Amino acid sequence: MKKTLIIANWKMNPSTAEEANRLFNYTKKGIDNMRKSEIVICPPFPFISFLDFKNSNFKLGAQNCFTKEKGSFTGEVSALQLKSLNCNYVIIGHSERREYFNEPDEQVNKKIKIALKAGLTPIFCFGENKDQRNKNNIEKVLIKQIEKGLKDVKTKDISKIIFAYEPVWAIGTGHDCPLEEVQTINLFLKKIIFKKYNLSVSKNISIIYGGSVNSKNARDFIKETGMSGILVGGASLKSKEFIKIVKEINS
Ligand code: PGA
Repeated sequence: MKKTLIIANWKMNPSTAEEANRLFNYTKKGIDNMRKSEIVICPPFPFISFLDFKNSNFKLGAQNCFTKEKGSFTGEVSALQLKSLNCNYVIIGHSERREYFNEPDEQVNKKIKIALKAGLTPIFCFGENKDQRNKNNIEKVLIKQIEKGLKDVKTKDISKIIFAYEPVWAIGTGHDCPLEEVQTINLFLKKIIFKKYNLSVSKNISIIYGGSVNSKNARDFIKETGMSGILVGGASLKSKEFIKIVKEINS
């Protein structure tokens, strides 16, 4: 049985190493032995080697990487460096990076390719904003983001990518996307990815949902929409709530 993916994106939190350690250890105590799910914690860069991932069942994820392998790029972090610290996953193209750091699709594409080359699993984020949704442009926006994000990505690598549908208007707002819509979008994404790569429908690709996931809606996103997992932001910073989410999915 394929495990349900539960990805915790801590973003730029918490503020100190001590707090990060506490959050990590509380979370670990509550859920370290859940067998039905793969739990990925994505802490900020400074805590990546500080937290004791080795003595846990959690997988380590980063929140970003640079487009190049190495060199004079002050302040950046490479996929190879992350891999050397036992990182398994890297979030790429999160809407906050697209919005606040002006990351265009072309950069997202380069990052996906460099992450794959380093042996990391890219968590490729995309999704429409409120305006695009109101104008009924969801499909058009998703097609563009997927097409550009996957430019020159080889067929053999498609099953190594996690596709994260994250409607921007749902992130951190408490307004989660209706289940029927998530289900429809899951099918739509499969259709365009299968068509683009000429894949047989039996091919396994991972599509997950993110945006205001909490302990009340998490189970439905998995059971009712066909999604392979969830990406959790705010709720992953409260260990009790995150533990509840994981337990709901494993129950
Ligand atoms: P949220 O964030 O769960 O706080 O909505 C999700 C995300 O940004 O990935």
